[in-house]
Amino acid sequence: MNMSFDLVFFGGTGDLVWRKLMPALFQAFRHGTLPESGRIIGVARDAMTDEQYRTLIQSRFEQVEGAKRPNDEEFARFKAMLHYERVDLSNPADYAQLAKRLAERDTDNVVMYLATAPSLFNTVCEQLAVAHLNTPKTRIVLEKPLGHDLQSNRAINQSVRKVFEEHQIFRIDHYLGKPSVQNLFAMRFGNALFEPLWRREHIANIQITIAEELGVEKRGGFYENTGALRDMVQNHALQLLCAIAMEPPINAHADAIRDEKLKVLRALKPWTTETLGQHVVRGQYSAGSVNGQAVPGYKDETGVSPSSSTETFVALRTEIANWRWAGVPFYIRTGKRLASREAYIEINFHPTPHAIFQAPAGGVNKLVIHLQPKDGLELHLFAEGQHKRVKSGHQNSGTLSSVHLDLDFDKRFGSERVGAYERLLLDVLDGRLNLFVRSDEQEEAWRWVEPILQHWAADTQGPRPYAAGTWGPSASSAMIARDGFCWSEEI
Ligand code: BG6
Repeated sequence: MNMSFDLVFFGGTGDLVWRKLMPALFQAFRHGTLPESGRIIGVARDAMTDEQYRTLIQSRFEQVEGAKRPNDEEFARFKAMLHYERVDLSNPADYAQLAKRLAERDTDNVVMYLATAPSLFNTVCEQLAVAHLNTPKTRIVLEKPLGHDLQSNRAINQSVRKVFEEHQIFRIDHYLGKPSVQNLFAMRFGNALFEPLWRREHIANIQITIAEELGVEKRGGFYENTGALRDMVQNHALQLLCAIAMEPPINAHADAIRDEKLKVLRALKPWTTETLGQHVVRGQYSAGSVNGQAVPGYKDETGVSPSSSTETFVALRTEIANWRWAGVPFYIRTGKRLASREAYIEINFHPTPHAIFQAPAGGVNKLVIHLQPKDGLELHLFAEGQHKRVKSGHQNSGTLSSVHLDLDFDKRFGSERVGAYERLLLDVLDGRLNLFVRSDEQEEAWRWVEPILQHWAADTQGPRPYAAGTWGPSASSAMIARDGFCWSEEI
């Protein structure tokens, strides 16, 4: 990439910038993929010089894994790209000053990254327009959460669309930037092997698990008004479901991919009173132990109400009403303070139509797509591993063992791998929208989760408690067991 750019971070001193975005840019810089002629301009309300901002970012790097103790010479070069501009987000004069700074040089593109609370998106967009900073070469990046429900999501999209065209808007879902998710697309659309099997005739069920060990940390205040459904299901989990279930796009262009994802979201079975009651489980962690360490319950976390009914766990079952998937259950579960930190997708195939061997109990062929911390593919098959002689002198050939082919992408590609934010930031600079979410996708996802939110609002039972360090409330196992299946750790 050989281009000049100005990348402006609104919320330039905030957590997201120093924890994720700056370290990602620094990685890109180390990998030689970030053009050194670019400027990264932090924008916030405090008065600060460029030099003070550089010192601040350097000191924060000490707290970030992957950016710690940067080599002096390397950081000195990176730091020269950092600049700072004081902007009070509602003051037009400050935007005029920012415009002046940007006009100092002619760049190929300008990126406005809104790493601020979404309630400020409207103001920032309006002010950018007043300062004529919404030129055709400007791109705008929006961080989640984009709204609280369908209506607020629409309101944000509408106010941004008043100022920018859809092709200038980059809505981030950092799961799409993960190398493992890139590989999911590569596996499905770069290989013909699985396609004939990728349908209802061969697949019994699909399970998507995104489990975290961490609790809400210091984000109790934010999480109280969000919960696992809005924080993880509406975006990350549904994007994974789309990547698994979408039809092959006609090409690799952004709209071809996004059109196919949208069709999946539109085909999700609408909720009924019955399915809302039986196919959705919400939980909230109580005190327990994670990795041998006692941890408090959600209600005792800072910023959380002692009578909170916010869910920290969701498990649900859905179906996709189209020819490929009709009748195949898709299960999604995600939660905080679960037994381990792992994200994976399990494709469970039908058992053999007629059994002449004895397979291990609960055994089926399955493909496990590991997303994190491991990044790889496991294909579970059956084989006859033991050739013991039995008394009669015949080989004991009736019992099969489970074996698996194990592909570890981290081992195979190692240091060539690029982190999610690094990849997404470079894509923004490059103008590639493939891994960003279009407004209609986002709205469709909200439309689908909204009945769940309404059902919960009217349900006085509240979330079911589960001890921290477990796999969530037992109702989650009961839900999947009703279909005759189980979660992978229950086999
Ligand atoms: C964020 C959520 O979008 O994703 C967090 O707001 C969550 O609550 C995080 O912890 C998980 O991301 P990752 O990449 O650590 O799986």
